[in-house]
Amino acid sequence: MKRFYLESYGCQMNVYDTQGLSRLLEDHGFSRVDQPESADVVLVNTCSVREHAEERTLNRLAVLGRLKAANPNMKLGVCGCMAQRMGAEIKKRVPRVDLVVGAQALPAVLPALEALDRGEKFAPRVEPLDHYLPPPRPRFDAKNLKGFVTIIRGCNKSCAYCIVPTTRGPEVSRHPDDLVLEVHELVLQGAREITLLGQNVNSYESGGVDFPELLARCGKVPGQWRLRFTTSHPRDMSRDVMKRMAQAPRLAPWIHLPVQSGSPRVLRSMNRDYTLEHYLEVIAAAREEIADLALTTDIIVGFPGETEAEFEETVALIERLRYDTFYVFKYSPRSGTAAARREDDVPPELKQARLARLLEVQRRLSHEVNQAYVGRTLEVLVEGIDQKRGNVLARTGQNKIVVLPPGSGEAGTFRQADILRAEGQTLHGTLRQTA
Ligand code: 5AD
Ligand code: SF4
Repeated sequence: MKRFYLESYGCQMNVYDTQGLSRLLEDHGFSRVDQPESADVVLVNTCSVREHAEERTLNRLAVLGRLKAANPNMKLGVCGCMAQRMGAEIKKRVPRVDLVVGAQALPAVLPALEALDRGEKFAPRVEPLDHYLPPPRPRFDAKNLKGFVTIIRGCNKSCAYCIVPTTRGPEVSRHPDDLVLEVHELVLQGAREITLLGQNVNSYESGGVDFPELLARCGKVPGQWRLRFTTSHPRDMSRDVMKRMAQAPRLAPWIHLPVQSGSPRVLRSMNRDYTLEHYLEVIAAAREEIADLALTTDIIVGFPGETEAEFEETVALIERLRYDTFYVFKYSPRSGTAAARREDDVPPELKQARLARLLEVQRRLSHEVNQAYVGRTLEVLVEGIDQKRGNVLARTGQNKIVVLPPGSGEAGTFRQADILRAEGQTLHGTLRQTA
């Protein structure tokens, strides 16, 4: 039996794809191993979102390629977004790569491996963006408690900085019946938290079902479990979705709503498709509709032309909206995108300084925001044990970790936790005793 080793980088959709790919290989007689040294096939599912991610992956591939010295029969493969974007160029950068399979047709890994066995020469398999061949549904491992379901692939927006439309193509929504079935199966197999995934989940539409309706249908699947979704796009995040979240206790009160910049000019230049006023209205509406809502966002610093004053507008926005947490990225030009044709004129030191400044604001704000939870009682999902200290870790609907004393509760159960103190991003508490 052939053994394979699989690594995944990038977003949660990549994780989902990787799990599907793993299942495909297992269903075809391969067995998965945890160490690349003991594998006949080593595969890396890659991300192209920033150049830094690609450079790191190319270095990792070079390291993995060196394992061939000890195991000359080992095959090294690259799949996913980098494979889709770079194709044959990957082999030029890392000559020990044997196969390249794009994000649009991961199942092509199988025929590619067979072709290698027949001694055929290297040929990247990169499907056009309108030809999508999905991997099978991942197999769920009950001890994970958390399941993910990609509901929509690709993206129809054209943000000036973003490579995703080039690697994952236009939006394609999966049929609602298929999705409800998948959610149902996950719950039956022991999932306690399910996250619906997409680049822009709000524009989901299939079989006459839109995103709010899909939430309602998935939410009806019985059992003790909760439902999340990510990522939302500020333009498409509707009141309907907020109302569903407010009405259905199953839906976790958390929205990840990337704003990218607090400067109206930069937003226009990014071609983000919404105004700052609109974004603020969406946040106000969401906070009005949904009790105890947690909000998170993504920010890009150093977009071409971003002035100090425009960066300050981003800082001011963050101070004003008091996000629970946010992710900050230094702008990275991606060839083929609109922004890559502009001068990358914010020097690296300045990007770094802006990033550091925002991280400092974040530390202070998350601390303040989390203090507001002290003294409250929140529902948590007990997830497992912190191996280092023996504490029990649980998660709130707001997606916050609560650290509980050792022996507090059984993994996979929903319990009420009294929050005693907050440190940075983490809450500390104790479980309410059940009668
Ligand atoms: N450079 C820097 N950050 C980027 N992101 C997407 N493309 C780029 C880029 N070219 C960030 C955005 C997005 C997150 C997933 O990655 O903030 O929301
Ligand atoms: Fe990376 Fe985007 Fe591809 Fe996900 S879709 S792996 S974030 S480039």
